[in-house]
Amino acid sequence: MLRVGVLASGGGSNFEALVSDLRTPPLLATVVSLTCNVESAPVIERAHRLGVKCHVLSHRHAASREAFDTQLVDFLRTDNVNLVVLAGYMRLVSPVLLEAFPRAVINIHPSLLPDFKGLHAVRQALAAKVTTSGCTVHFVDAGMDTGQTIAQASVAVAPSDTEDSLASKIHQLEHQLLPRVVRTLAAERGVHADLQVSRT
Ligand code: GRF
Repeated sequence: MLRVGVLASGGGSNFEALVSDLRTPPLLATVVSLTCNVESAPVIERAHRLGVKCHVLSHRHAASREAFDTQLVDFLRTDNVNLVVLAGYMRLVSPVLLEAFPRAVINIHPSLLPDFKGLHAVRQALAAKVTTSGCTVHFVDAGMDTGQTIAQASVAVAPSDTEDSLASKIHQLEHQLLPRVVRTLAAERGVHADLQVSRT
């Protein structure tokens, strides 16, 4: 069983969708913990309601990004995590995390990457007047939304779409795509050398 650790900073709808989906057969993966860096984030309440172990680790007191990520890695190793999922995690990760979990950190982003990286991706897509948008799950590297794409899902942008309406459509897609990718990675595990986790 693939053991998933989720990192999130906000609402947590993707976290909840992933937890719920993975609880339905076939049971290939399980979310073992949430780590949240924002003390007031609604995702924490979702974790409590769903009975998922929750670490709250504010970055405000960390001496550096590396020091913060070292604590994160400690939590993830304690939970025996072998896939790290960033689901609305609003921080760039350092090599400390990436080297601890090589090719085993993934992120979901609300655009068809490589278009519209970074913040306000939905707003960027509307401003660019695209007729199709969507979401991307990708491996995380040291850049912002630059890692290798694993899977994408797309949706038509209507002329009447606002940032809220398009974000809502993309969220629906995300709630299906992220669990699908995690299931695929879980099924490939064992034959997928990329998904080995280094333990030092
Ligand atoms: C999602 O749109 C995700 O793509 C982005 O942050 C948002 C998180 O939404 N990285 P939620 O907190 O899962 O509802």
